[in-house]
Amino acid sequence: MRIDVLTIFPEYLDPIRAALLGKAIDKGLISVDVHDLRDWTHDVHKAVDNSPYGGGPGMVMRPQIWGDALDQVCAGDPAPRLVVPTPAGRPFTQALAHEYAAEPRLVFACGRYEGIDQRVIDDASTRMRVDEVSIGDYVLVGGEVAVLVMVEAVVRLLPGVLGNPRSAAEDSFSDGLLEGPSYTRPEVWRDLAVPEVLLSGNHRLIDRWRRDQSLERTLHRRPELLEALPEEAFDKHDRAL
Ligand code: ADE
Repeated sequence: MRIDVLTIFPEYLDPIRAALLGKAIDKGLISVDVHDLRDWTHDVHKAVDNSPYGGGPGMVMRPQIWGDALDQVCAGDPAPRLVVPTPAGRPFTQALAHEYAAEPRLVFACGRYEGIDQRVIDDASTRMRVDEVSIGDYVLVGGEVAVLVMVEAVVRLLPGVLGNPRSAAEDSFSDGLLEGPSYTRPEVWRDLAVPEVLLSGNHRLIDRWRRDQSLERTLHRRPELLEALPEEAFDKHDRAL
């Protein structure tokens, strides 16, 4: 998978080369290029923003610079999927992470200030798939951290990135539920014992216990997730809860 990021703060994306993502780059599973948007400016001040038409606070990123940058970075075959992080976007979910993990090319366009002139998105949409995406209902200063979040969620799904593929398969959200608690040695710590069923060696009982923990946690913390699941997602033992 090829990933390009356009930003006025390239150094913000440095963590992309650390830890798990760095390993994926070293193994050749992904290639990542971070581009400085100011390379496409022509004036001495390298200005990327201007005041909004219609008035109001903040600044809007100018279309000419973004247009030229995207023409160059998105050129070639196949056309990439363009992702524009914005608090006004559709929610980024595990399902969208799986969609992105199946793409050969992703380009992330980081906006700052009050956003990017909308014509940039409208124009790009005539040539490629464009998603305006939000990572949550809060406002960050810019899209860079949102890109780090999305890239990490996507890249860990690629085959060969995680040591054990079951880790991704059994995540929170993979079955629409939150994952339950985990325990490791010692059996008793500060007078707190590991739930006995986990020591039983009975995998049918352990699976049932884990499923119940997932259901209970989801019911308390994210009841709307349970409500969104179809009837078929539950078995007859779930119903007893
Ligand atoms: N830029 C600023 N806030 C954001 C958010 N919540 N999600 C994605 N991009 C953003």
